[in-house]
Amino acid sequence: MTLFFMDAFPWYMNDKRDFMLYKQDSLEILKSMPDSSIDLIFADPPYFLSNGGYTCKSGKRASVDKGEWDVSRGADLNHAYNVEWLRECQRIVRPGGSIFVSGTHHVIFSIGFAMQQLDMKILNEIAWFKVNPPPNLACRYFTHATESIIWAAKDQDSRHYFNYQAMKEENEGKQMQSLWSITPPRKIEKRFGNHPTQKPISLLKRIITAASRPGDTVLDPFSGSGTTGVAAALLDRKFIGIDINEEYLGIAKKRYEFRDEEEAQTVVKTYRPAQSTAAKTIRKTPKK
Ligand SMILES: C[S@@+](CC[C@H](N)C(=O)[O-])C[C@H]1O[C@@H](n2cnc3c(N)ncnc32)[C@H](O)[C@@H]1O
Repeated sequence: MTLFFMDAFPWYMNDKRDFMLYKQDSLEILKSMPDSSIDLIFADPPYFLSNGGYTCKSGKRASVDKGEWDVSRGADLNHAYNVEWLRECQRIVRPGGSIFVSGTHHVIFSIGFAMQQLDMKILNEIAWFKVNPPPNLACRYFTHATESIIWAAKDQDSRHYFNYQAMKEENEGKQMQSLWSITPPRKIEKRFGNHPTQKPISLLKRIITAASRPGDTVLDPFSGSGTTGVAAALLDRKFIGIDINEEYLGIAKKRYEFRDEEEAQTVVKTYRPAQSTAAKTIRKTPKK
């Protein structure tokens, strides 16, 4: 299928035209895409948490504000927006495809409710354990150490794809659980610039391996620093990314062009609570 849409010309595309980044409002691009044209969608939408608060970064007080795109418009409008873009995702995903959406408590309940309203089939709620999260400065809450990822299929009749065997192998022969222990992005993943909510590449590689096949088309409507695109390219999937921010698109382009450097230093952390509470590290042999 073509990865071109409407009158929109990609901000960046590779020579093979199977990796494209669009600089536009994602709703506009989503609305221009044909029905049932995408195999897998990963979305990490605005969390609506930029409210002037503070967090802790490298032991220092730091603002939680991510940017204009993350400012809350109030619970009702935030939810209406989530329903709107998820409705488009539901329309464009193939019947056998699926959708993953990540988020913290600021947004994830709205996402889950929107999926229920749209009658998507919720397949799993994955807890991503961040392993070494920053401490809570206020000392009035538990340290925020997890993020949720909801996995859903198009509708109740969907027969979604799941690569059970690959997940079992990644978990050293044991069934993969819905608790994923993965460390935050490494230095090399941030070498071209800082994105305030960047996801680790190991997380995206697991999702893409679990729910798509080589040659499939993966879409990320809020692609940020391009983590989904880099993971998709490394796993031989086609990719469409959308973001409104040119600086982030620039990081994504660079990361795509130099993706082999990230691959050469991949470290996958696997958590096996039945046997041990310690995270186990598997180091990949660097590519020759
Ligand atoms: C939570 S971040 C995604 C981070 C990404 N997963 C990564 O690993 O870098 C959300 C992204 O959505 C983008 N964004 C916000 N509103 C948007 C909109 N209406 N259309 C397109 N992109 C938008 C922001 O610029 C931001 O980069």
